Amino acid sequence: MSDTESDPPNSWALVTGSTSGIGRATALKLAEDGYAIVVCGRDAGRAAETRKAIESASGRAVDLIADFADPAEVRRLIAETREATANGTVDVLVNNAGGGGFAPTEDTTEAMFDTAFALNVKAPYLLAGAFAPAMAERGRGAIVNVGSLSTTMAASGTSAFQAAKAALSMLTKSWTAEYGPRGVRVNSVDPGYVLTRVNEHIRDMFGGYLATLPAGRGARPGEVAEAIRFLVSPQASYIQGATLSVDGGKNAVVTM
Ligand SMILES: NC(=O)c1ccc[n+]([C@@H]2O[C@H](COP(=O)([O-])OP(=O)(O)OC[C@H]3O[C@@H](n4cnc5c(N)ncnc54)[C@H](OP(=O)(O)O)[C@@H]3O)[C@@H](O)[C@H]2O)c1
Repeated sequence: MSDTESDPPNSWALVTGSTSGIGRATALKLAEDGYAIVVCGRDAGRAAETRKAIESASGRAVDLIADFADPAEVRRLIAETREATANGTVDVLVNNAGGGGFAPTEDTTEAMFDTAFALNVKAPYLLAGAFAPAMAERGRGAIVNVGSLSTTMAASGTSAFQAAKAALSMLTKSWTAEYGPRGVRVNSVDPGYVLTRVNEHIRDMFGGYLATLPAGRGARPGEVAEAIRFLVSPQASYIQGATLSVDGGKNAVVTM
């Protein structure tokens, strides 16, 4: 948000994919900063747990359920968010829910490809289209898109995911062009390897890889959430259209 606006407590932040991992950590930190949080994801139990964690730290939250692979559910979530929030809109949008499309190109079905783009591109697109105009009208707001190291560096077997995250990365710039001049700051955070549910099942395979990183380890979800929190904050008032890598140095260093 810009340094000319008033800070929370009367502001709402919608954090997609906040039932787990990076999104949950972000929701808790933004709640600490005084935002009321729209928690969302597919798992009702974990959504309620995140809401309760915010409430037990004296924060304010609602939990809403939607599968972002289905644009109709995203539209329903938008309507429910408008009903739940004080003035019918949000001041901060964190497009964090993502994933899908992890297979070699020849094994990626059209359904897998479509899901990767629905979740990583279309849902953020619908959400920005729903909420950025009101932010621009008020002359303030912040959007953070959670991308990936694989937005800029390829790995074998994840082409649909990578293409979708690359599209999301371009939207950070497109929305900066569209809404930036009216006070809405749009930025990306690109995580490298983060220790979350999404990669729990393949964690053993990554030990050698993580040792090659300058950081020598994977990130904790809270370390990525801190970068998101910063980009939302008034301290980032002159940062627009930028990508902040949170990858332990991976994209800066060639592994020898
Ligand atoms: N972990 C990494 O190493 C890594 C690296 C690069 C980028 N990222 C990106 O970081 C973001 C967060 O991932 P994470 O690592 O925190 O994973 P995570 O712990 O598995 O969390 C993913 C979140 O996204 C939600 N989500 C997934 N599919 C959804 C769908 N179809 N509809 C609605 N919500 C959905 C999940 O909600 P439910 O489970 O409740 O459905 C969950 O809250 C993603 O965009 C991911 O691509 C992660």
